[in-house]
Amino acid sequence: MIKRNHLLWFLWTLLSVVGITVIMGFVFFGGPRHLLLIGKTTAAHGQIELACESCHTTGLVDNLTKSPKKLAAAMTKACGTCHLEELSAANDSHPTKKFRGAKKAKTRAQLNAFYCQTCHAEHVPEITRPMAVSLPQDLCVACHSKIGEERESHVGLEFTTCASAGCHNYHDNSALYEAFLVKHGHGEDFLPHAIQEFAAESRSPSIIRTALAKEDPVFALKTYLNEKQIKTDDESNEPLNAETKAKLSSQAQEMLDLVLYAKDVIAPAKYLDEDAVHAWETSAHAASGLNCASCHAPELKDSMDLVALEENWTEKPSLQVCSDCHQDQATTFTQGKHGMRFHPELAAPRVVEADGPMSVAATFFKDAPLGPITVGESARKDLMKPDAHDMQIGSCNTCHKPHEVNLEVASVEACTTCHNDDHTQNYFNSTHFELWQLELAGEGAPGSGVTCADCHMPKVEAKEGFFTSHNQNDFLRPNEKMIRPVCMSCHGLGFSIDALADPKLVESNFNGRPSKHIESIDWALKREE
Ligand code: HEC
Ligand code: HEC
Ligand code: HEC
Ligand code: HEC
Ligand code: HEC
Ligand code: HEC
Ligand code: HEC
Ligand code: HEC
Ligand code: HEC
Ligand code: HEC
Repeated sequence: MIKRNHLLWFLWTLLSVVGITVIMGFVFFGGPRHLLLIGKTTAAHGQIELACESCHTTGLVDNLTKSPKKLAAAMTKACGTCHLEELSAANDSHPTKKFRGAKKAKTRAQLNAFYCQTCHAEHVPEITRPMAVSLPQDLCVACHSKIGEERESHVGLEFTTCASAGCHNYHDNSALYEAFLVKHGHGEDFLPHAIQEFAAESRSPSIIRTALAKEDPVFALKTYLNEKQIKTDDESNEPLNAETKAKLSSQAQEMLDLVLYAKDVIAPAKYLDEDAVHAWETSAHAASGLNCASCHAPELKDSMDLVALEENWTEKPSLQVCSDCHQDQATTFTQGKHGMRFHPELAAPRVVEADGPMSVAATFFKDAPLGPITVGESARKDLMKPDAHDMQIGSCNTCHKPHEVNLEVASVEACTTCHNDDHTQNYFNSTHFELWQLELAGEGAPGSGVTCADCHMPKVEAKEGFFTSHNQNDFLRPNEKMIRPVCMSCHGLGFSIDALADPKLVESNFNGRPSKHIESIDWALKREE
C-alpha cells in the first residue's frame, strides 16, 4: 500500500512536470503566446507584440540573476536597435547620453530618462497617449520647472503646452531649434519655385521612359528626340536605326541597347500570360534589360533554357527577390507599419542557443515567422475600405503591380485601395491634388504636384543620389517631421508649422489656410534682435 502510494506520487509529479513543460513549451514556442501578455501592447507595436523577445532580450536565467538596473538597460538597448538611428537623424534633443554617468544622478532622480521605458512603458493601454507615451502631457516639468524664470517669453506658460503641436518635441528637433527658426523665420508662405527637386528629377521624361510609352513607343521616342533637337530621318518601324542612334550620347545608346520588347520575352509557355507580358513590356524592368526570370527564377536570370526555367520558376516571387535589387526601399519598408512584420530586428522566429536551457523545447516546438497581416487584422481596420479587409499588407505588390510597377499609380491610387479615412478622402478636394492633376496633364512642371507619397514617402538622400523612403511612419508623428523633407520645398517654415499644428487642416488635407499662429518664430526673432 505504502509502496503503491509512493509510486503514484512519483508518477504524478513526473507527469505534472512533463505536462507543464510541454504546455509551457507549446505556449512559448509557436503556441498561443498572447496568453502570456500582461496587457495589450501599444498600437505602435501591435503587429509585433507576439515577438516578445524583440524587447525582452534577457532570458530566464538573466531575469533571475541580474540586477534590475542591468535588466532595464538591456531593454533600453533593445529599443535602440530599432529606433536609435531614426532618433539621431531627427536631431534628438534628449538622447540617453544626456542622462548617463554619476554627474547626472540628480537629473535621473527627478525622472530617469536614461531608460526608454520610463516614458514608454508597454502593456498599459489605460494610461498610454499617442506615440506610445505613458507619462502625462506635462512631463517636461520634471526637469524644466525653472524655464519661466529663465525666458521672458515663457513666463506663465502651462507645462501641458510645451509639446503640444508646433513648439517643442521631446525627441524630434529637426526643424524647431532656435537657430533654424531664426534662419528661416522670414520665409514667405508660398515659395515662388514650388517644386520638390528629387521628385522633379525622378519624374522628368527620360529617353528610357519615352521608349516605353504604351501607345506607340517608336513614335514617342522620335518625338522626344525631335524635341531634344536630335533629327531623326528614320522611317523604319524598329525602335531606332543605327544612323539615328549614332547621334545620341554614348550613355543614351547603352541605355537603349538594354531595352527589351515583347518579342524578347523568355518564359516557359505555361507562364506566358499575355497581360503579364504586356504590362512588363512598358515597365522599367523591361527597359533595364530584365527578363521574366529576373524575378521568377533569379538564379537563372540570364538563361535561355526553357525547361530549366520551368523547373525553377517561382509563381509568386517574394519580397526577398525585390529586396536583392532594391535594398534601400526594402529596408525602409520593413521599418514602417506596412512592412514591420518583416523588420530585420524582429525576434521571430527566435534564435535559441544550441546548448542553452531552451534548446530542448525548441527541438519539439517550432517557432514560425510572424508573416503578413491582413488589412482587417490591423489596428486601423475601421478606417479602411471594407473590400480591402482581405488584402495582405507586407508585400511590395500592394502598391506596385508586379509587372507594371507604375509609379503614378503607386503614389495615390494604390493608397486609396485600402485607406478610407476623412483625411484621405479630402485629399481629392485639395490644392495639392489639383497640382498633381496639372502635373499629370503636362501643364505643371515635374515635381510640382503633391501626392500622398510626396508627403508620406518623400525622397531621401542616399550614398548615390536619392530614393523613395518606404517607411511612411518616419515622417508622420510628430508631424513636424514633415517640415524639412516635404513642406519646405514649397512653403516657408512659419506657414508649415502653423498648417501642421492645426488638426482641422490636417483632417481636411490642407484645404484652406491655417487658423492659428504658433509664436515660437516671433519669440526666436525677438531674442535675436
Ligand atoms: C515593443 C516592446 C515589447 C514587446 C514586443 C513586449 N513587451 Fe513586455 N514589456 C515592455 C515594456 C517596455 C515593459 C515595461 C518594463 C518596465 O516598466 O520596466 C514590459 C513589461 C512586461 C512584463 C512585466 C515584467 C517586466 O519585465 O517589467 C511582462 C511579464 C511582459 N512585459 C511580458 C511580455 C510578453 C509575454 C510579451 C510577448 C507576448 C511582451 N511582453 C512583449 C515591452 C514589450
Ligand atoms: C522622458 C520621457 C521619454 C524618454 C525617456 C523617451 N521618450 Fe520617446 N517620446 C517621448 C515623448 C513625449 C514622445 C512624443 C513625441 C515627442 O515629443 O517627441 C516620444 C516619442 C517617441 C517616438 C516617436 C516619435 C519620434 O520622434 O520618432 C519614438 C520612436 C521614441 N519616442 C522612442 C524612444 C526611445 C527608443 C527611447 C529610449 C532611447 C525613448 N523614446 C525615450 C518621451 C520619452
Ligand atoms: C523590432 C524592432 C522594434 C523594437 C525592438 C521596438 N520598436 Fe518601437 N516601433 C517599431 C516599429 C516598426 C514601429 C512602427 C513604425 C513607427 O511608428 O516608427 C514602432 C513604433 C514605436 C513608437 C511610436 C511611434 C509613433 O509614431 O506612434 C514608439 C514611441 C516606439 N516604437 C518606442 C519603442 C520603445 C520605447 C521600445 C523598447 C521598449 C521599442 N520601441 C522597441 C519597431 C520596434
Ligand atoms: C529627465 C529630464 C528632462 C525632461 C523630462 C525633459 N528635458 Fe528637456 N532637457 C533636459 C536636459 C538635461 C537638457 C539639456 C540642457 C542643456 O544642454 O543645457 C534639455 C534640453 C532641452 C531643450 C533644448 C534642446 C536643444 O539642444 O536645442 C529643449 C527645447 C527641451 N529640453 C524641451 C523639453 C520638452 C518640451 C520636454 C517635455 C516634452 C522636456 N524637455 C523634458 C532634460 C529634460
Ligand atoms: C519585377 C519582378 C517580375 C518580373 C520581371 C516578372 N514578374 Fe511575373 N510576377 C511577379 C510577382 C511578384 C508575381 C506574383 C503576384 C502575386 O503575388 O499575386 C508575378 C506573377 C506572375 C504570374 C501569375 C499571374 C499574375 O499575373 O499574377 C504570371 C503568369 C507571371 N508573373 C508571368 C510573368 C512573365 C511572363 C514575365 C515576363 C514577361 C514576368 N512574369 C516578369 C514578378 C515579376
Ligand atoms: C534583378 C534586379 C531587379 C529585381 C529582382 C527587381 N527589380 Fe525593380 N528595378 C530594377 C531596375 C534595374 C530598375 C530600373 C532602375 C531603377 O529605377 O532603379 C527597377 C525599377 C523598379 C521600379 C521603378 C519603376 C519606374 O517606373 O521607375 C519599381 C517600383 C520596382 N523596380 C519594383 C520592383 C519590385 C516590386 C520587385 C519585386 C517583385 C522588383 N522591382 C524586382 C531591378 C530589379
Ligand atoms: C505603400 C505603397 C508602396 C509599397 C508597399 C511599396 N512601394 Fe515602392 N514606391 C511607392 C511609391 C509611392 C513610390 C514613388 C512614387 C514617386 O516617384 O513619386 C515608390 C518607388 C519605388 C521605386 C523607384 C525608385 C525610388 O526609390 O523612387 C522602387 C525601386 C520601389 N518603389 C521598390 C519597392 C519595393 C522593393 C517594395 C517592397 C519592399 C516596395 N517598393 C513597396 C509605393 C510603395
Ligand atoms: C493593402 C492595403 C494598403 C495600401 C495599398 C496602403 N496602405 Fe497604408 N496602411 C495599411 C494598413 C492596414 C495600415 C495600418 C497598420 C497598423 O495599424 O499596424 C497602414 C498604415 C499606414 C500609415 C500609418 C498610420 C499610423 O497611424 O501609423 C500611413 C501614413 C499610410 N498607411 C499611408 C499609406 C500611403 C501613403 C499609401 C500609398 C502610397 C498606403 N498607405 C498604401 C494598408 C495599406
Ligand atoms: C500635404 C501633405 C499630405 C498629403 C498630400 C497627404 N497627407 Fe496624409 N497626413 C499628413 C499629415 C501632416 C498627417 C498627420 C500626422 C499627425 O498629425 O498625426 C497625415 C496623416 C495620415 C494618416 C494617419 C492618420 C491618423 O489616423 O493618424 C494616413 C493613413 C494618411 N495620412 C494617408 C494619406 C493618404 C492615403 C493620402 C493621399 C490620398 C494622404 N495621406 C495625403 C500629410 C499629408
Ligand atoms: C511641391 C510643392 C508643395 C509641397 C511639397 C507642399 N505644398 Fe502646400 N501648396 C503648394 C502650392 C503651390 C499651393 C497653392 C498655392 C496657391 O494657392 O497659390 C499649396 C497650398 C497649400 C495650403 C493652402 C491650401 C488652400 O486651400 O489655400 C496649405 C495649408 C498647404 N499647402 C500646406 C502644406 C503642408 C503642410 C505641406 C507639407 C506637409 C505642403 N503644403 C507641401 C505646394 C506644395
